[in-house]
Amino acid sequence: MGTNAGSRKGETDGNGGLDNTHVTAAYARWAPVYDLVFAAVMRNGRRNIAAAANQHKGGLILDVGIGTGLELPMFDRSLRIVGVDLSLPMLERAARRVRETGLSGIEGLALMDGRRLGFADACFDAVVAPYVLTVLPEPEASLDEWLRVLKPGGEIILVNHVGADAGPLAAMEIWLARRSKALGWRPEFPWAILGDWLAARPHLILTERRRIAPFGLFTLTRITKP
Ligand SMILES: C[S@@+](CC[C@H](N)C(=O)[O-])C[C@H]1O[C@@H](n2cnc3c(N)ncnc32)[C@H](O)[C@@H]1O
Repeated sequence: MGTNAGSRKGETDGNGGLDNTHVTAAYARWAPVYDLVFAAVMRNGRRNIAAAANQHKGGLILDVGIGTGLELPMFDRSLRIVGVDLSLPMLERAARRVRETGLSGIEGLALMDGRRLGFADACFDAVVAPYVLTVLPEPEASLDEWLRVLKPGGEIILVNHVGADAGPLAAMEIWLARRSKALGWRPEFPWAILGDWLAARPHLILTERRRIAPFGLFTLTRITKP
């Protein structure tokens, strides 16, 4: 299993001014309190991601941006999970979770940039990325990389916040977007990023796009590679 495809310092951009330096700095700050702040409010999305991944019984699953590994206990025991993340403090918490809970089926945890994975082509049955796409400096390039490591018949399973098209929520998201670098994610992430990426790759199949609780704030997206 390859490790540490790394990130280039100051690497930009294409996503609300975020780059890997901002992201690693933000998640070094978030890591100690991440579970306290984000475990409950984003649990339903992780459950949806795991329910979709669990359909790949016995499969090898890549979890990109695994963070502190909150989704790990939700995966079916038959799955073999490889988790990668750009943030060492987040990854260390995931490793501690695996040790302390005695979770089985975790094949490896690696410090790695989701845009440059140290894995061979077509080796995973599914790539899951809960709450990660809005964090990545180059979401389209990352999606291409996930597609590369996916077996034919495999799927990319995403949950993330998709910005509102209009109205007060959209205005608030645009206001919050000025704080993207400090937050470590992009609150106004438009569906068009995914939509345009899919439109340019007509062989891919969008099998699900569904707003989920709480309050339809997050969107579950499933994409199959034929
Ligand atoms: C909002 S957290 C989500 C963590 C976890 N998936 C969850 O559901 O709680 C985003 C994670 O993506 C990671 N991340 C950001 N950019 C990344 C990149 N280029 N490659 C891999 N992981 C990245 C961050 O370090 C952070 O742990």
